[in-house]
Amino acid sequence: MKALVTGGAGFIGSNLVTYLCDKGHEVVALDDFSSSGRTEIDKRAKLVRGSIGDTQLLGKLLAGKDVVFHLAATGIIKISLENPPLYFENNFMNGIKILDAMRKTGVKKIIYSSTAGVYGEPKRVPIRENDVKEPVNPYGAAKFAFEHALSAYYHAFGIESVSLRYFNVYGPGDEQRPVTRAVPSWIKAMLAGRPVPMYWQGKQKKDYIFVGDVVRANLLAAEKGKGCRVYNVAGGKGFVMHDIFHKLEKIMGRTFEIKHMGDRAGDPTILIAHVGKIKKELGWKPEVTLEEGLCRAVEYYRETA
Ligand SMILES: NC(=O)c1ccc[n+]([C@@H]2O[C@H](COP(=O)([O-])OP(=O)(O)OC[C@H]3O[C@@H](n4cnc5c(N)ncnc54)[C@H](O)[C@@H]3O)[C@@H](O)[C@H]2O)c1
Repeated sequence: MKALVTGGAGFIGSNLVTYLCDKGHEVVALDDFSSSGRTEIDKRAKLVRGSIGDTQLLGKLLAGKDVVFHLAATGIIKISLENPPLYFENNFMNGIKILDAMRKTGVKKIIYSSTAGVYGEPKRVPIRENDVKEPVNPYGAAKFAFEHALSAYYHAFGIESVSLRYFNVYGPGDEQRPVTRAVPSWIKAMLAGRPVPMYWQGKQKKDYIFVGDVVRANLLAAEKGKGCRVYNVAGGKGFVMHDIFHKLEKIMGRTFEIKHMGDRAGDPTILIAHVGKIKKELGWKPEVTLEEGLCRAVEYYRETA
């Protein structure tokens, strides 16, 4: 399979590039390094430095491809509240540029990295794909808008798509800049001996999924996904953030001071997914437990710190 991975130098993208190369696929990765702290990716892939907003470049890169894995996005909720147009520009309009370049070059399949952020504050948990969707920040709204665009491009132009709504992804290789996600920021603080920043007193309940499981879902979606589909990608279990902090303390073998940061706007208090649909239709299920995944993440940051 010849694949274009947008956001291929990002956390999930760089893991996906390696996984696709391991499976023998031919990969081109496109990234503008706007939020990536890494300088290189798997050497077996071709890395192109550029933006998904560059229509001419997209036309060149898409020629002859079988599938696009679209991960490039601006993903920090705090910034999406400060500058909403930027989020609609990059996470919606630039995505339309990809779809239109696909239409012109005849590429017929796209696997889209969507988000649990489309649901907003859920009315019930576990959340099913058809449940109410009321995004509570521009990030979630722009991502949801793009899912609608995928529907239009499928029905009007026959471009097949799978939207994968990730919940909280964690694991080795998260070099997002600036660091905002709990697991990497906590591990980095612990390794540096700094107090651990914690929002909402650690009371939020989130559904964590290991990055290796997420990249597997991407390939399965490319191989088996038909039509225009949407799936939750998550562990299907809720973990209180404070308990995750304790799991990390246990892995580190010591206790750590917490720096309470108050509440964070645009952040739902509970997110737990129902993952029955993807299990049934794609045969995917999470394989890595939270304990094992956290150990692998700590190992990564110990080696790279
Ligand atoms: N990490 C999570 O927990 C999570 C949860 C839900 C959804 N997602 C989605 O998964 C995808 C990947 O997320 P991630 O965690 O790897 O984030 P990330 O920030 O590490 O990766 C995104 C990458 O996209 C690149 N990028 C941004 N705008 C670009 C542009 N215009 N042109 C080219 N490259 C551009 C960035 O430089 C970065 O390398 C995103 O679409 C994100 O919204 C992630």
